[in-house]
Amino acid sequence: MGAGKSTLGSEAARLLGRPFVDLDRELEGETGARVQELFAQRGEAAFRELEEELAVEALADRTPAVLALGGGAVTSERVRESLAESALTVWLRVDVGEAWRRAAGPARPLAQDEAAFRALHAEREPLYAAGADAQAEDLDGVVLAAAGVHVESGGLARLGELVPGDGPVALVTDARVAGIHGADAQLALGDRLASVHELPHGEAAKTVAAWAALVQDLTLDRSGTIVALGGGCTTDAAGFAASAYLRGVAWVPVPTTLVGQVDAAIGGKTALNLPAGKNLVGAFHWPVRTILDPALLATLPADERRAGLAEVVKTGLLAGDPLWELPEPEQVRRCAAFKAAVCLRDPFERGGRAILNLGHTFAHALEAAGGPPHGHAVALGLLAALRLSGLDPSAVVETLAPKPARVDAERAWAALLRDKKAEGGRIRLVLLDAPGEPRWPAELPEAEVRRALDGIIAG
Ligand SMILES: NC(=O)c1ccc[n+]([C@@H]2O[C@H](COP(=O)([O-])OP(=O)(O)OC[C@H]3O[C@@H](n4cnc5c(N)ncnc54)[C@H](O)[C@@H]3O)[C@@H](O)[C@H]2O)c1
Ligand SMILES: [Zn+2]
Repeated sequence: MGAGKSTLGSEAARLLGRPFVDLDRELEGETGARVQELFAQRGEAAFRELEEELAVEALADRTPAVLALGGGAVTSERVRESLAESALTVWLRVDVGEAWRRAAGPARPLAQDEAAFRALHAEREPLYAAGADAQAEDLDGVVLAAAGVHVESGGLARLGELVPGDGPVALVTDARVAGIHGADAQLALGDRLASVHELPHGEAAKTVAAWAALVQDLTLDRSGTIVALGGGCTTDAAGFAASAYLRGVAWVPVPTTLVGQVDAAIGGKTALNLPAGKNLVGAFHWPVRTILDPALLATLPADERRAGLAEVVKTGLLAGDPLWELPEPEQVRRCAAFKAAVCLRDPFERGGRAILNLGHTFAHALEAAGGPPHGHAVALGLLAALRLSGLDPSAVVETLAPKPARVDAERAWAALLRDKKAEGGRIRLVLLDAPGEPRWPAELPEAEVRRALDGIIAG
């Protein structure tokens, strides 16, 4: 009561692209009476019976939806059983004093007296704790819970508990990360650790050969879980192994780079590279849980952090919120939530995810021309996209300070055209009508796009 379930529930439903069902409103619709009238006329017991009927019925409906339960619904065992069987249950946590301030008033029969309200809160708490699959305090928390993303600084030490189930775990790291965080991860997995596997670090992890060696090394049965501890290269390769090994086993990415935590480990895409190009083989294989531990980033080299910051700025521009100004753990949480929502709306990349390519058409062109590493190229790409959008690029300039790329402009242009022609002949960009308002596809005259590209190449 007073946690904000109705407000956050409807906002979460909108973000996830699902219908919203508010059980109190359903109940009022069904009976034609307000909750307080039902309480007054029929008594609490009769109200709970009605509530139970409606809750169990709504939970049995298999259409994916966001459902807001009344605060007392979990006192029914049938409701608790239905929740366990067919819902991911998020406990929206709120300070009891704040809840009282919000809930007190004639509309809520059980929020008439503060002492009684506090007693009820304390009495129900164990039921919430036992029934919840995840906890959240705000909208981003709800979205992250829906995506199976758990954010906890220092969470690596609880890896054994945080990996769902109690089956065996194969731990996959890259050779570098193994030496930094591998021992802690092994310790935290304890008895569940079945085997340890090392991939080469960097893109070498994403070769068919490295992947084949990994899957041939695995000894898990279907009850096992692959835990991928490392940057985006490790999670891409280990995630693809999880998608194919025994036709698919559960996996849990534990990203250790900023790129991994705000981007690569979110959204269920896994990939390998082929000689013909990056990410040409892969699968959509959503992890059973994603564990984001911002404390793992303490050991990250500065240039890897800068690479991640470029994706943070991209996300902030898409969200219309200067997320890059936040402390790093909050940057991670907010960016991950933004990407998670986009991907839950479009899990198989049929269209909506395209906005995540802001700045990337230019970045890929620079990279293909032998230009700077991805993060630097993205910073320049964002600059070009903001200029083409007619928006102030100072956030990118001040935060990422990208230097113009030293590449051959003709080669970069040829790469951009090749890429785009392959996608149906036209140059279609992600631009912004305003920060927070991405526009895709934006089609511009070639000459204008060429000028924007030249503007980020050293003359
Ligand atoms: N699947 C997706 O949706 C998606 C999205 C974005 C990017 N990606 C992929 O992610 C990859 C890039 O990921 P990345 O930037 O994380 O690269 P990475 O995995 O190569 O990691 C970068 C380097 O940092 C080291 N490292 C990792 N964690 C560390 C830590 N905590 N301390 C010290 N060193 C550490 C690694 O050993 C590596 O050398 C690319 O292959 C890209 O295609 C995938
Ligand atoms: Zn990127």
